[in-house]
Amino acid sequence: MPTRPLPDEDATLALGAALAPHLAPGLVVALRGELGAGKTTLVRGLLRALGHAGRVKSPTYTLVEVYEVSRLSLYHFDFYRFHDPSEWIDAGFRDIFNGRNVCLIEWPERARGQLPPADLEIALEIVEPGRTATLTASSPAGEKLLAALPPG
Ligand SMILES: Nc1ncnc2c1ncn2[C@@H]1O[C@H](COP(=O)(O)OP(=O)(O)OP(=O)(O)O)[C@@H](O)[C@H]1O
Ligand SMILES: [Mg+2]
Repeated sequence: MPTRPLPDEDATLALGAALAPHLAPGLVVALRGELGAGKTTLVRGLLRALGHAGRVKSPTYTLVEVYEVSRLSLYHFDFYRFHDPSEWIDAGFRDIFNGRNVCLIEWPERARGQLPPADLEIALEIVEPGRTATLTASSPAGEKLLAALPPG
């Protein structure tokens, strides 16, 4: 998959916005990249494009933030602070991956073995002063979304 340059924050927001109209119920998107790579920024751009007017909080402390927007139930996870798989069971998170909710997951590697496979992976890299994004599809739904994206 080609790597897209994201020279500034607006470019990250625009990539999120470009994904928004092509999200289908049940889609699982893994957002990879180190601290500050722009994962939450991308989700913010996506949610704004769907019509969400409020804040987009990083779910660093809450593990998940939920949005009902544009006929989608969207779950934004951040597993940075997730260590114990029993936490996952206790919180009932598995039920969220039910083929209907859209799930966007920061730090998916911290919940390895607990998560269903992602349809699409977006790997963000810090290339100062900007970022790059590499998008990889792993399912027909992911392929469809990639094909719908404008070239970047
Ligand atoms: N393409 C870009 N170029 C330069 N700065 C960017 C770009 N995209 C986002 N940023 C900036 O990077 C900073 C960190 O972004 P963000 O919080 O989205 O990172 P994150 O990957 O979610 O980090 P964390 O792992 O801590 O949750 C923000 O100040 C944001 O404005
Ligand atoms: Mg974040």
